[in-house]
Amino acid sequence: MDISDDVLNFDEKAIIRLRSLYRKFGYTQYKMSRFEEYGLYAENKSFLASGEIITFTGAGGKLMALRPDVTLSIVKNLEDDDGCKKIYYNENVYKPDGFEFKEQMQVGLECLGDIDVVLMGEVLMLAHRSLELLGEHFRLDISHMGYISGLLHSEELTVEQRAELLRLVGEKNASGLNMLCAEYGFDECFRDRLTALISLYGTYGEIKPELRRLSVNEETEAALREIEEIHEVLSRLDSVREVNYDFSIVNDLSYYSGVIFQGYIEGIPAKVLSGGRYDRLMRKFGKRAGAVGFAVYLDLLERRSPPDEIINIALPKGRLGDKAYGIFEAAGYGCPAIYEESRRLVFENKENGIRFFWVKPSDVAKYVERGAADIGVAGKDILLEYSPDVYELLDLGIGKCRMCIAAEQGFSPEKHTRVLRVATKYPNIARDYYEKQGRAIDIIGLNGSIELAPILGLSDVIVDIVETGKTLLENKLRPFTTIVDISARLISNKVSYKFNFDAISKLCGRIGKNLNGR
Ligand code: PRP
Repeated sequence: MDISDDVLNFDEKAIIRLRSLYRKFGYTQYKMSRFEEYGLYAENKSFLASGEIITFTGAGGKLMALRPDVTLSIVKNLEDDDGCKKIYYNENVYKPDGFEFKEQMQVGLECLGDIDVVLMGEVLMLAHRSLELLGEHFRLDISHMGYISGLLHSEELTVEQRAELLRLVGEKNASGLNMLCAEYGFDECFRDRLTALISLYGTYGEIKPELRRLSVNEETEAALREIEEIHEVLSRLDSVREVNYDFSIVNDLSYYSGVIFQGYIEGIPAKVLSGGRYDRLMRKFGKRAGAVGFAVYLDLLERRSPPDEIINIALPKGRLGDKAYGIFEAAGYGCPAIYEESRRLVFENKENGIRFFWVKPSDVAKYVERGAADIGVAGKDILLEYSPDVYELLDLGIGKCRMCIAAEQGFSPEKHTRVLRVATKYPNIARDYYEKQGRAIDIIGLNGSIELAPILGLSDVIVDIVETGKTLLENKLRPFTTIVDISARLISNKVSYKFNFDAISKLCGRIGKNLNGR
């Protein structure tokens, strides 16, 4: 029976097209149960995007889970015999999304066995063709964990320092890298190499000389050789148009070893495809074979919005926003209508190709992460509290304050032996800080006037921002520890950054130049 095209919705058509593409290249379908033993995920938490998993008690009292990921099940069940297995799947996964769990459709493929450069090229080509089937304007960006790992190995690092550096690389956070390297006394060349690496974005031809210049050891050299070989394979394939290289694409080093990649479609504010070489995951399961694969996140396709020629900028309402606007204006991105007395929230300057809108300061990061704004200005306090998946491009040096612990004058945290009651608007920052100290706390989440909490006996201490110190002083409180220094940051949606690379990097360049000239 033939099914007419208009019976199928976009997702269903996409699934059929992807499946027939993968079949054409010799991949066979892999079916699996939607339940797995919870232990599989508990032992591999950092392989998953989130540690939150739906669990239930199965027959015989076993703790079971609704599958949040497909690759782990495939690797677990793989028989480690010789030869190469090429499989594709079309399965639902169950992951947290915002406040709830969502059932999400994934289509993907995996190659397990002896993976050579030709097979790597084939997988990249199929990732490219998958994106092509889903959207007219798309990008496939490649990174290499071996190259990044090599650079990190050029300095002696603790596990925590490596994780922190990888996170900053993933944020394209040059000011964060500078600060961290200064704090730990790392070599200036090491710092300069990492900051140069995260600013690279372009085709192989464009980034090759810089990659060569930054190479430091046998590990980076081996990665370079592989990148070169893959580039050669890809350039022989007519079906693969340009791919870009972006070394701020990072994954967990204990699972991923070589090439990793992500795919984006214009108008969808998050990556729609993600994959890479995960031989290290195979070793964790005691398998000899190599592995490479990718997944396409089909649910994101419905989030597509029409492309916009203009750069949307979210500014925080209030004093900080006024200062931030001044920085844009000084860099040549003014919008005079913004000074008119009105309650309007959106201001546009078509000549400059920009549109500003005022949002609540704590919401800027959400607008940017979800792509409603391409870039925005957010306080580091908000970025630390909510960890949005955005690039942190510049420290604007405004809105400077400190995240502090404060209490009544006579209070001594050392002498306090009971569980510490902490009132704060920043529960995640407070929890992280005390977890590192190994101290048990009871968090009392408040929305404002935090200083009242110790005065009225609601809490022992507060974790809050201190700017002039006046509020603490006038309420007879004293700051006794600074957790972190805060200032406003220019942030960018990761996908917008790629599709508007020229405009956003020009804007950052101009602002950065003015900031350095201060
Ligand atoms: C912030 C912060 C402190 C105050 C610190 O409050 O929560 O209360 O500023 O500033 P200072 O050191 O210059 O005195 P905000 O103005 O955001 O109001 P809130 O109490 O409603 O959070």
